[in-house]
Amino acid sequence: MLGPVILAASRSDRMRRLISAAPVTKQVVDRFIPGEDVDDIVPVVRDLADNGLELTMDVVGEDITSPAQAAAARDAYLELVDRLKPLELGTRAEMSVKLSMFGQALEGGHELALSNVRPVVEAAAEIGTTVTLDAEDHTTLDSMFAIHEELRKDFPQTGCVIQAYLFRTEADARRLAASGSRVRLVKGAYKEPASVAYQDKREIDRAYVRILRTLMEGEGYPMIGSHDPRLIAIGQELAHQAGRKLDEYEFQMLYGIRTDEHLRLAAEGHRMRVYTAYGTDWYGYFMRRLAEKPANLRFFARSMLTK
Ligand code: FDA
Repeated sequence: MLGPVILAASRSDRMRRLISAAPVTKQVVDRFIPGEDVDDIVPVVRDLADNGLELTMDVVGEDITSPAQAAAARDAYLELVDRLKPLELGTRAEMSVKLSMFGQALEGGHELALSNVRPVVEAAAEIGTTVTLDAEDHTTLDSMFAIHEELRKDFPQTGCVIQAYLFRTEADARRLAASGSRVRLVKGAYKEPASVAYQDKREIDRAYVRILRTLMEGEGYPMIGSHDPRLIAIGQELAHQAGRKLDEYEFQMLYGIRTDEHLRLAAEGHRMRVYTAYGTDWYGYFMRRLAEKPANLRFFARSMLTK
């Protein structure tokens, strides 16, 4: 029951100010967001790569309010690409972007987001890697998929995310699987109404399995974005049934969550990609992690009380 309350708080400016200013929040945030700037994050990238893991990098931020902020977000990603270049990791370190951070919700936002994300995709391609478009709330998805299609004309490796909790996703998965796209499947992290999304965890899990089967049987590259042990086992089985080799799909998990499992899957020879977020505008990302596991909230509250 706490999850939806925390998700509602994730959109509240008042809560954002309160929590961001709390003296101990940073220590708790560090578990999920291991750095504030690119200097902090380069050693983290190196360390994960040395441990046989792959990465998708997220500069945290969303819901920006001006074109200047959108341009700053683009520049932050361009700086990241620049700093990744000498590491020569190729697709072992890709980028994940939220189009809201590139201006999608502003006036003329669709074109603005496309014009800001394109240089990032181009720069990524120059260092031999790629970009995946994160999925945000359901009102943004038509624009996200249109931008994804547009980018794929020149950069077919550009990926996107689909969310199992949405009713629309089975149809999206069929279209993307037929087009041969890279697709990350996740359960979904936003507060969505019952008119567009399953609310029951078991129904979401069942949808996840149906959609994953479609992706595995399709032409594209499925990316299993989940920490759920049951779905990870089913993912392996579906990949096997579809005759996919170990390098024809991958697992993805978030930095700081089930770290032992990252290493276990990598040691078994799976491609295991860690979604690694950094930056100062961490509030929305952090609150979604709290909502996914309300036990995190107790850890957070305890750290405030013992300060
Ligand atoms: P579930 O929530 O059932 O968790 C399974 C187990 O994992 C839990 O029992 C717990 O042990 C552990 N766990 C999960 N979340 C935890 C947390 N926050 N803290 C501590 N333990 C936790 N969503 C979205 O809407 N758009 C997007 O673009 C993305 N992108 C994305 C990328 C990647 C790589 C991942 C892994 C996830 C996302 N998500 C996302 C988030 C996703 O929608 C979902 O909210 C989380 O992955 C949690 O769902 P699980 O599948 O892990 O299952």
